[in-house]
Amino acid sequence: MIDARLAAVVVLAAGEGTRMKSTRTPKVLHELLGRTLLGHVVAANRSLQPDHLVVVVGHAREQVTAHLAEIDPAATAVVQEQQNGTGHAVRVALEGLGELEGTVVVVPGDAPLLRAETLRLLVDEHHARGAATTLLSAHLDDPTGYGRIVRDAAGGVVAIVEHKDADAQVLALTEVNAGVYAFDAAHLRDALEGLTTDNAQGEEYLTDVIALHRAAGLPVAAHVAADAVETNGINDRVQLSQARRLLRDRVVEQHQRAGVTVVDPETTWIDVQVAIEADAELRPGCQLHGLTTVAAGAVVGPDTTLLDTEVGEDATVLKAHCVGAVIGPRANVGPYTYLRPGTVLGRGSKAGGFVEIKASTIGEGSKVPHLSYVGDAVIGERSNVGAATVVVNYDGRAKHRTTIGDDVRIGSDTMLVAPVTVGDGAYTAAGSVITDDVPAGALGVGRARQRNIEGWVARRRGDGGHHHQEKQS
Ligand code: UD1
Ligand code: CA
Repeated sequence: MIDARLAAVVVLAAGEGTRMKSTRTPKVLHELLGRTLLGHVVAANRSLQPDHLVVVVGHAREQVTAHLAEIDPAATAVVQEQQNGTGHAVRVALEGLGELEGTVVVVPGDAPLLRAETLRLLVDEHHARGAATTLLSAHLDDPTGYGRIVRDAAGGVVAIVEHKDADAQVLALTEVNAGVYAFDAAHLRDALEGLTTDNAQGEEYLTDVIALHRAAGLPVAAHVAADAVETNGINDRVQLSQARRLLRDRVVEQHQRAGVTVVDPETTWIDVQVAIEADAELRPGCQLHGLTTVAAGAVVGPDTTLLDTEVGEDATVLKAHCVGAVIGPRANVGPYTYLRPGTVLGRGSKAGGFVEIKASTIGEGSKVPHLSYVGDAVIGERSNVGAATVVVNYDGRAKHRTTIGDDVRIGSDTMLVAPVTVGDGAYTAAGSVITDDVPAGALGVGRARQRNIEGWVARRRGDGGHHHQEKQS
């Protein structure tokens, strides 16, 4: 009787990934839509709730291990000192786990399109068949490079033969091994002990477990992937961008089916963790990254990038770049607006064209409509900040805070030299440099008084008063 528990998932990620041609980033740490290759694989497998999730690391092990600790602290990294093959890698992983019972799933670390649902089907089929091993296979038009699935006359899986070890007859087979398996732990352990390096690559092939099981009279099953792209492994940056496009289409479609309008799927890039409510609309050219959320009725885009940003109900965000911002319900942002971390826009507020805001709260109904910088400030409700206002928050050494009350009118081109407070209902005169607090209800004027110098232009020319226009003609 085979134990149906999922004892462990083993992710193979010790290989170098030479075809990425990277001296900085190990293959499995390359990113697509908010997760690394490894991050996608780990997340899909974590959803199976295994007792252990082990990642076999080798090349760039410090970087990969540190990343794993960040994305899945409950997972463990096991070091495979030398990459002696996939069978050897699994043996190393199991050695660290003691006497396992139940099912062990093995997956490659570079298959980011593999879905949790497919893994679940594989494991379910494995349990239903009572198999020693159930492998995931796929039919490919071009099976070059993959291990081929060899079946007997009755359709039973007999062996996996690696491309490099295959003869012409086997090379003609188009059913390939995805490198994803569900094993019975005890039978796997037994078979791993019987692996040899007697093959074209001189490695311990995990794939030889199949033939060993067959020889021992154990049942082997195959689950054919409904969508062959799920089994795609990423080896170079061309495949990385192909996978990113496929994942983009999948994510966009999920949101569309859940009620989100996506005007132009091909130019809309949504990270996998982004949450969007039904009846939100994404216009062309949007990139939604990280933990961004978009509420119902909001319109985002065109040409907008949001990272870790919250967009409230019925807000509009047009041609903006926002990082770590909270955009309240019915707020208006854009065009050409840069919202930086710690920006909180209240309900119905506005951050307009060529406005940059950092670490500031803009109260309900308040507006910063044009050409302004606001940093380290709190603005109350229903206040207006005139065009070209700058909150002068930095004295070259430290940042200082600015407080603006409710119903304030900041005149155009005001410099608010922090720390400074403008009380409720106060005004500042256009062009003022405000260095002292402005009490509630007061007008703060901080500018030189204008004087007109009569006849100055003519005197400068020394022409005794001939009109400018006459001189030119
Ligand atoms: C493997 C399979 C092949 C299958 C293909 C699917 C074997 C022998 N062959 O071939 O049948 O069609 O995957 O993509 O298993 N790794 C380690 N340690 C090692 C060797 C590899 O951790 O010693 C890791 C690699 O980093 C990689 C994965 O195992 O993530 C697969 O290894 P790779 O060498 O790419 O196997 P393939 O030749 O692609
Ligand atoms: Ca290989």
